[in-house]
Amino acid sequence: MPKPDYTELDLGPVPQDRPIIMVNMVASLDGKVVVEGTEKGLGSKVDQRLMRELRVNADLVLNGAGTLRASGTSARLGDEELEALRVAHGKPRLPTAVVLSRSGALPLDRTFFTATDFDAIVYLSDAAPADNRRALLATSRPIVLVPDGHELEVMLAHMRHELGAGVLLVEGGPDTNAHLFEADAVDHWFMTLGPVIVGGRDTKTAVEGARAFTRDELRRFALVSAVPNEDTSEVYLHYRRAR
Ligand SMILES: NC(=O)c1ccc[n+]([C@@H]2O[C@H](COP(=O)([O-])OP(=O)(O)OC[C@H]3O[C@@H](n4cnc5c(N)ncnc54)[C@H](OP(=O)(O)O)[C@@H]3O)[C@@H](O)[C@H]2O)c1
Repeated sequence: MPKPDYTELDLGPVPQDRPIIMVNMVASLDGKVVVEGTEKGLGSKVDQRLMRELRVNADLVLNGAGTLRASGTSARLGDEELEALRVAHGKPRLPTAVVLSRSGALPLDRTFFTATDFDAIVYLSDAAPADNRRALLATSRPIVLVPDGHELEVMLAHMRHELGAGVLLVEGGPDTNAHLFEADAVDHWFMTLGPVIVGGRDTKTAVEGARAFTRDELRRFALVSAVPNEDTSEVYLHYRRAR
């Protein structure tokens, strides 16, 4: 099966104030990342396998709250051999799942909250309404409060210094990605390009921030690998931040 091997990646040195950050997304040929409300239907089984291979490298797997609400999220690998690879590298069998939320309006019946086979952490803005905060504190998941307006930077520093995390895998969505690019904190960009057109003026692309970068501010990347798959008509892209 023509595909890259994402289980052994050279990700470079870990920064002092945050983990290495890699983002993984699947998009249509016209750059859209959502079909009928979720990402389902954009990627093949090979794409899903690559997503799991990327998780082999990660200490933490982060989603924004919007993705947890739309699709549900977990940190599972779904493959004993991949889990064994992590253990061989001195990591726990599964990474820790993480969600970042400002509102605290999260679906508490989802796997993220109910599963017992992986750890999970909620980073919650201290601007969240008290009722939502109380409901989250009543779950079994640890809640880390982060200050209003500085949620991302404080979360990343907490991951690095308090959790000792070296690698954070971000699996979207577009709003969370935009905050990371605004902070210029994306080191690796993985994207599967799927052979479909979604269209729609308001259909989300992979990065949906409040503002666009100017020419001077463009975040620039260098190609690491581009692997075409004739069976699925997908292309698997890996870029690293150009400094
Ligand atoms: N194709 C793909 O690869 C892919 C991958 C992932 C997701 N998706 C799709 O993307 C859609 C969701 O995208 P989205 O952009 O709405 O959601 P998102 O990025 O998953 O979540 C956005 C939410 O995350 C929280 N958040 C993000 N940055 C924050 C910050 N700096 N401080 C505090 N909270 C922060 C906020 O939570 P609150 O709203 O709780 O305040 C925010 O509204 C879904 O349809 C999903 O299926 C596609």
